[in-house]
Amino acid sequence: MGNGIAHVCARAGYRVLLCDVAQGAIDRGMRAIETNLGREVAKGKLSAEEASAALARIAPVPTIALDETTQLEECGLVIEAAPELFALKAELFRELDRMLPPASILASNTSSISITKLAAVTGLPGRVIGMHFFNPVPVMPLVEVVRGLETNEETFAAVEELARRLGKTPVAVQDAAGFVSNRVLMPLINEAIFAVMEGVATAEAVDQVFVLGMAHPMGPLRLADFIGLDVCLDIMRVLVEGLGDPKYRPCPLLVRMVDAGWLGKKSGRGFYRYDGGKA
Ligand code: CAA
Repeated sequence: MGNGIAHVCARAGYRVLLCDVAQGAIDRGMRAIETNLGREVAKGKLSAEEASAALARIAPVPTIALDETTQLEECGLVIEAAPELFALKAELFRELDRMLPPASILASNTSSISITKLAAVTGLPGRVIGMHFFNPVPVMPLVEVVRGLETNEETFAAVEELARRLGKTPVAVQDAAGFVSNRVLMPLINEAIFAVMEGVATAEAVDQVFVLGMAHPMGPLRLADFIGLDVCLDIMRVLVEGLGDPKYRPCPLLVRMVDAGWLGKKSGRGFYRYDGGKA
């Protein structure tokens, strides 16, 4: 999602440092941004000059370490989009909190992890907030803005305003596992996987029920592949731990597929097989 977030920020006129610890991920991210800006040019939503200018506003950086290339001290906002692992995010937040000027905002694109817990590892919890985007980021108009226990009003108002400037609609939610989106979406996906595991219907048939019967743009299993099965599993684990209800138990088939490395679209196989991104 990081590349989508960089895309919409650069398109709205902001200078962006796109950081990932893996050079391959940075390269893929930059290519995806170029392709997706190209879609907007092809649709006549953006001129070729505007797309090039947006791309030029993004500087890929391989580390958040403070040096002359990263210029972290000039960042008014950091949006973290690391994998859904608390320990990893906490380490990043600790480091960023130390490096950023006190007025900078520290946001997480987490889909389910507690903002309050992340804020607690920093020295300034008031500036920590959830800014949860949806895939594909350039297309989906929602940002869930998540208030941690100590998030201050200034931070909240700034992030709401920023979401609007990015052309998104901010929706305020409180800090509870999965927020609203994933507390409702993931159990639906998990239940769809149970239906497949129990032989109630094939993955394709389950998806057809939702596309044709409920007008969803894609069925829950296609969507799970699109989100990433590892991400879905991580979120179910956060739900079961955070809400303490066994009804959020991840489906064993989901666990097995992730163990096998079937992560959905990004790995070429999930409930569907993918060839050049096409199911
Ligand atoms: N990046 C940028 N733009 C993209 C894109 C991408 N990866 N994929 C598609 N688009 C654009 C297309 O250019 C097209 O734009 P226009 O409307 O301007 O023509 C538009 O999206 C529709 O694309 P297509 O016609 O090619 O394909 P589609 O009609 O099948 O739509 C879709 C694709 C937008 C992904 C649609 O299937 C959809 O809305 N799916 C559901 C997505 C969803 O539920 N996302 C939320 C996932 S949950 C999440 O992200 C959060 C979490 O915490 C897990």
